[in-house]
Amino acid sequence: MKRARALAYAEQNADRFLADLMDYLAIPSISAREEHTSDVRRAAEFTAAKLEHAGLSASIHDGDGHPLVVARSPEVPGAPTVILNGHHDVQPVDPLDLWETPPFEPTVVDGMIRARGCADDKGPALAQVFGVESWMKGAGGLPLNVIVLIEGEEEVGGPVLPDYIEAHRDELAADAVVIMDSPGHAPGVPALAYGLRGIATLEVRVDGPSRDLHSGSYGGAVKNPAEALCEMIASCRAADGGIAIPGVVAGVTPLGDEERARLATLDPDEAEFLAEVGAPEVWGEEGFTGYERRGCRPTFEVNGIFGGYQGDGMKTIVPAWAGAKISLRLVPDQDPQGVLDAVEAHLLENAPRGVTVTVKKGFGAPALVVDVDGPAAVAARKAMAEAWDTEPKLTREGGSIPVVGTFAEKLGVTPLLVGTYRPGEKAHSPNEQYHPDDFQAAVRTSVTILETLAEELA
Ligand code: BES
Ligand code: MN
Ligand code: MN
Repeated sequence: MKRARALAYAEQNADRFLADLMDYLAIPSISAREEHTSDVRRAAEFTAAKLEHAGLSASIHDGDGHPLVVARSPEVPGAPTVILNGHHDVQPVDPLDLWETPPFEPTVVDGMIRARGCADDKGPALAQVFGVESWMKGAGGLPLNVIVLIEGEEEVGGPVLPDYIEAHRDELAADAVVIMDSPGHAPGVPALAYGLRGIATLEVRVDGPSRDLHSGSYGGAVKNPAEALCEMIASCRAADGGIAIPGVVAGVTPLGDEERARLATLDPDEAEFLAEVGAPEVWGEEGFTGYERRGCRPTFEVNGIFGGYQGDGMKTIVPAWAGAKISLRLVPDQDPQGVLDAVEAHLLENAPRGVTVTVKKGFGAPALVVDVDGPAAVAARKAMAEAWDTEPKLTREGGSIPVVGTFAEKLGVTPLLVGTYRPGEKAHSPNEQYHPDDFQAAVRTSVTILETLAEELA
């Protein structure tokens, strides 16, 4: 059987795959930082080289942002086509002093790989490439047509991949899209995320006096911009922990009882959750479980707030300005642009007198819901069950992958979110970690899913 040959190849090459991952992780491909532009390119070149080595024809597409890697397999006439997606860029590493080992010197600590981007998303992205290689080299060819799109600016919501999809709709016609960029359920238990939240981002700046003022001579006689900003932000939060911005939550479909009952079985217990996040207690919108708050409800978060004196000791001033970076997570039926408009209007309306407020709207991406009984999802579930020897959990994830909406809208294909790494990986945090077993299981999953998709979609 061909799949057995591909799986045997994956097993025989496991050490090399892991060594390649370590090299990949040493590239500091931080898309948010301009000084790392050439590193993001190096990560793209690394990805393209691995795809070429796998036997695909790969190229780097440059658009209005970081490089996108595009690759195609040799044609398998009459077979379905799958797009494999992930990203080679990573999040910034600060605060650097909290890393126990340097973020771009990948190390194995207590059996876990530690490096920025190991779980999110270089491990899973590369696992998909090695899944393809295992078919090409271990079984003499793929069971279906594969298009690989590994982007370099997922972590900043960049336009290159969406633009590329829009401009190449015909060439990208596909029967399924597989994204490996979300967590599994637990060690040894994978997850198919049938829901993913969307996102809307913005920055707000509050200007007061034309310079920092002596707070003794002037304080109390001009509006303090930092305080004004706090008032504006506080006005966004309702007493029950929900969002108080008119129009933002309106129209969100309530969760059904059946779904709530099913999701309740996935909710980790509170102590376990608190140990993972290290907070003194849980918090959130009244009337919802932790799982629902994290995956099924809209949220409003201040991602950063700044202004005034930040150094050691005191500096007694009325700051000239203050600012905040804000993002909202969206659920099905929320329109990202409509949400951004509503937040902007609310902030401006709630600006106190005596300051000037500027809102800069960022990007928006809609939430995703997948029909878990559709043929592609059934194929994915079957592959995960076979590769892990246990049924995947069907989950709703709180994170966002901006391009999911573009795949759905422009290609008419709803992506499958195949979650392979164990939770607790500390994505976006110091000391991000990834289990080598999860990497191997991801390669196995990738091998298997290519066959189950070929069968189910034929
Ligand atoms: N891999 C994550 C998305 C994710 C996280 C899916 C958790 C499911 C569960 C992705 O790399 C990510 O972090 N996306 C950003 C998008 C944003 C910067 C536009 C996010 O969710 O914050
Ligand atoms: Mn990711
Ligand atoms: Mn991420």
